[in-house]
Amino acid sequence: MRVMVLGSGGREHAIAWALSRSPIGAEVIVAPGNGGTIGSFGSAELDVCDASSVLKSAKELGIDLVIPGPEAPLVAGVADRLMDQGILVLGPEKKGAMLEGSKAFAKSFMEENGILTSPFDVCGDLKSCKAALESRTPPYVIKADGLASGKGVLITSDVDEAADYCSKMLDGQLFGDAGRRVVIENHLNGFEITALALLDGSDGALLPLSHDYKRALDGDRGPNTGGMGAYAPVPWDSEELRERIREEVLTPTINGLRKRGITYRGILYMGLMIDPEGKIWVLEYNVRMGDPETQAIMPIIGDDWLKLCHGAANGELQVKDIQTNGKSALGIVLASEGYPFSPRVGHPIEGTWPFDDGSSLVFHSGTALVNGKLVSSGGRVLTVVGIGDSIETARINAYKRMASVALPGGFHRGDIGSPTTEVGGSPRS
Ligand code: GLY
Repeated sequence: MRVMVLGSGGREHAIAWALSRSPIGAEVIVAPGNGGTIGSFGSAELDVCDASSVLKSAKELGIDLVIPGPEAPLVAGVADRLMDQGILVLGPEKKGAMLEGSKAFAKSFMEENGILTSPFDVCGDLKSCKAALESRTPPYVIKADGLASGKGVLITSDVDEAADYCSKMLDGQLFGDAGRRVVIENHLNGFEITALALLDGSDGALLPLSHDYKRALDGDRGPNTGGMGAYAPVPWDSEELRERIREEVLTPTINGLRKRGITYRGILYMGLMIDPEGKIWVLEYNVRMGDPETQAIMPIIGDDWLKLCHGAANGELQVKDIQTNGKSALGIVLASEGYPFSPRVGHPIEGTWPFDDGSSLVFHSGTALVNGKLVSSGGRVLTVVGIGDSIETARINAYKRMASVALPGGFHRGDIGSPTTEVGGSPRS
C-alpha cells in the first residue's frame, strides 16, 4: 500500500512514523515534508491546498490512501476532488470541514444537536459586537469565524481592547475574509482536554485523551501559540469519562452530521473543557489531528495505525476505542526565537540524531536540509517526545533529551507535565 500524508509539520511526521510501523508494510510519502521526514520517507513537491497539484502527485505515485494533516486542504475541498477521482482519503469533504472552517457554523451545529457549548453571538458589524460585549462580564472571548492559523482568538478583560480587536477583524485588517464575521462567547473555567476520534462515516473510535499547552511561556503566560507541548493519556482518562464524551459529544456530532447528509470519514478533534462541576463543554471542533497532541499520541497507540486509518477511510472502522500500548508520552516543542510573532529561521540544529534513542523521539516541524545541514525553517522547529511508564517518567525522558538539542535563540517551556501544575491535578478554576 502507498500512503501519502499531506503537510510538513510535526503532526505529519508523527502520523507517517506510526503508519510506517504497521505490519502491513506501507510505503509512506510525506508531501511536501520537512528536514526530518525527507530521508526517512518518500517526498513530493506539491501545494497541499491545490487539489490539481495533489491529484497529479497522487496519480503519478500510485497512491492508495491520502491523509491530509492540516485543515486548510480539507476546507479548500481537496478531499472532495480526490474522492471524485476514486482515491481514498482520510479526511472530510468540504461541507464536513466547515466544523473547523466556520466557528459560527460549528457553534450553531452544536446548539442544534444538544451539545454543550458556551453561549455565543455571531456578529457581522461593530454595533452588534459592542452589544455582545456589553451583555457579558469579562473576560471576553472573541474569535474570528474563519481559519486564522490558530491565531484568531483573543481572551481579554479590557472591553476597549476587545472592541478594537473586533473592529480590526471586521474590516479585514487582521485575518482578511476569515475575520469578517466574529464569534463572541462566554468565558469558561476548567481543565482543557483534547479528545480525538477516528470516524468512518457511521461510527467513531476515541484515541487516548491528551492535554496541550497553548501559551508560549511557563505558567501559561505569554501569547497563544499553535501548542508548546502535550502529554497523553491524561491521568483521568477513564472508561467513565470516555463513555460520557461518546454520549454527550461524539455520538450527537456523528448523528448531526448524518442529519445534514455529511459522510464524515476522517479525524474529528474535540477541544473540551471540563468545568469544576464536571460538565463537559465543547470549545471547538477541528477536522484534523492536533499538533503537538499527535506527537504524544502516536507513540502510545497499541493498534495498527495504518489499518485503522485505511478502515476509517473505507467506511469500515469496526472498533469503539483505539487501544494504547500502556505507555505514556510527553512532547515538548522547541520554538525559534521570536515565535509566534516573527520567528527567526535559518539557524543550525544539533542533537536530533538518533530519531529514537529508546526512551525519546524527535519529530521535526520547521526544519529543512540546506546543503546537507539541518536548519530551522519555521516557528515551531521540532517536538521532543519522552516515553515512559508514567507521565512523570515520560517528562523526565523528554527533558533529558531536550537538553541535548541545540538551536541558537531557540526556546521551550520548562513546565510541560509539571506535577505542580497539570498532571494529576483536578480541573483548574
Ligand atoms: N494544539 C492545538 C491544535 O492542534 O489545534
